[in-house]
Amino acid sequence: MSDSLSESGFDLDHVDRLLTTTRAVRKRLDLEREVSDKLIFECIDLAEQAPTGGNDASRRWMVIRDQDTKNELGRLYAEVGTLFINARGHLDGTGHPKERVVSSGAYLVENFSRAPVLVMCAIWGIHDNSGRPGLFDSAIPSAWSFNLALRSRGLGTAYATMLNNKSDEVAALLGIPSGVTTLVCFPVGYTCGHEFSPAPRRPASDITYFDQWGFTRNRPSIDGSARIEDGPGVVVEIDTDARPKAVWEVISDIGMPARFSEELVDAEWTSDGDRGIGSTFRGSNSIPDVRDWDTNCIVTAWKDRETFEWRVTDAQKPGAIWRFDLVEQGGGSRLRFSMTIGKENNGTAPRALKDPSQESEILRTRRLIHKANMQRVIEGVKGLVDG
Ligand SMILES: Cc1cc2nc3c(=O)[nH]c(=O)nc-3n(C[C@H](O)[C@H](O)[C@H](O)COP(=O)(O)O)c2cc1C
Repeated sequence: MSDSLSESGFDLDHVDRLLTTTRAVRKRLDLEREVSDKLIFECIDLAEQAPTGGNDASRRWMVIRDQDTKNELGRLYAEVGTLFINARGHLDGTGHPKERVVSSGAYLVENFSRAPVLVMCAIWGIHDNSGRPGLFDSAIPSAWSFNLALRSRGLGTAYATMLNNKSDEVAALLGIPSGVTTLVCFPVGYTCGHEFSPAPRRPASDITYFDQWGFTRNRPSIDGSARIEDGPGVVVEIDTDARPKAVWEVISDIGMPARFSEELVDAEWTSDGDRGIGSTFRGSNSIPDVRDWDTNCIVTAWKDRETFEWRVTDAQKPGAIWRFDLVEQGGGSRLRFSMTIGKENNGTAPRALKDPSQESEILRTRRLIHKANMQRVIEGVKGLVDG
């Protein structure tokens, strides 16, 4: 028996490998090796175990093997896919973060019709924004199960949706009646080799919020309640039309974001030279009737146009860790502003630790104040860069 058997009897090494290495396969599709109907049936049967709204059996699958039909689908796919081909021309050799996916996507555009088999997942119904379950929501879980089933059997595919922009032409070509929505057309083949790596993704602790939108914890809590020990934090995010360069100019000039916050009213650099890891600045608050403070901050991460992190008071024993992260998003930027409350060197930890029965509530109240302030900061930054 494997050490990795779960309580329910699954070998987690295998299950986790399947879940973490089912990648979008394009350049590594074996375009020469035939794929049997038997395997396709098997994978669709597995996929059909996925949930469906109201338990309606409304999903339908199409398997396309006829080369003329595949060519026509390939032609339609390429009409939409010119954006990949053009983008590849711009990005090849630049080291841009999207260079690989664009090159891979462009390859698929050029070879779509050469996949040994195309499998389309469709569902009875038209998305009417009624909020009722079904339609896309019922098709997507099974479409992903189909991917997993393929991978487990040495096959691969990419979740190709661009034909959705040509749904009328696709329906005419394949004789699909009105009232049916097609969602994804999988180019299926054996994979060249079976080793695939997990993708770099954000850890759960960054993107999982507990009890209140934006409330994070760095570590799992022992009893589910918020505790200083677990690194409680807050995240706020905003999308801007402005590109990362413009947003970075505002957030990296520490006095600018500070002026939108009600707590940190003033901040100025106290170190000379280029800004970067090890630079310091002083932040202070002198709002009447509010606790006055004045604190040193040390920059602990700095990547131009991407990341700016600083620790309050002491880099090893920070009172808090604050951080801006910036990514390009849909032609603009997504700005993420986050903070983690430290175990010492702040006003919150001693209060929270004094009475464990109050710890969670004290952290909640403090974080609601942080969240409101941080929201003001990102909205202020957006106002500046988009205004
Ligand atoms: C909703 C959705 C639509 C997608 N559409 C396409 C597509 O039209 N063409 C394509 O080549 N890949 C498409 N993909 C695959 C993504 O590009 C791919 O999942 C992503 O680059 C991450 O790669 P990975 O799955 O290997 O981690 C789509 C994925 C999803 C979830």
